[in-house]
Amino acid sequence: MTRSRMFSALILCAGFAASGTAFAKTCDVEIESNDAMQFNKQNIAIAADCTEVAVTLKHVGKLPVAAMGHNWVLTETAAFMPVATAGASAGLAADYLPKGDARVIAHTKTIGGGETTSIKFPTSKLKKGGDYTFFCSFPGHWGIMKGKLTFS
Ligand code: CO
Repeated sequence: MTRSRMFSALILCAGFAASGTAFAKTCDVEIESNDAMQFNKQNIAIAADCTEVAVTLKHVGKLPVAAMGHNWVLTETAAFMPVATAGASAGLAADYLPKGDARVIAHTKTIGGGETTSIKFPTSKLKKGGDYTFFCSFPGHWGIMKGKLTFS
């Protein structure tokens, strides 16, 4: 074995050790929101080999959270409207979501212009081929601020 091949083998071992298991894979999703009540994506595809999803939500606008707050909420599509409707009266401190609602698979906090927030969730919470909707639960936003998430 040459010196350079030995070095490559060492790097490979170090990579597996750092990730915990050989099969862990965090997949990054970045999504922007703005003062025009829009997300910059309508579709998010999570590859089947992702074990964890890291979502970063940016608010590229200038309006404060009380006027144009945005969050990123994930539910099964069948639960999206009931959760959004129930969340409208929950208030900003609760991120406009029903407290402890098991239908919420993942959600970020609610942010205003210029802010960024991140969350991670395991894909063990998703079914392959399931029908998922992401949306902003700020009152009145979910009609426009929504999209589909796929895991396959
Ligand atoms: Co919003």
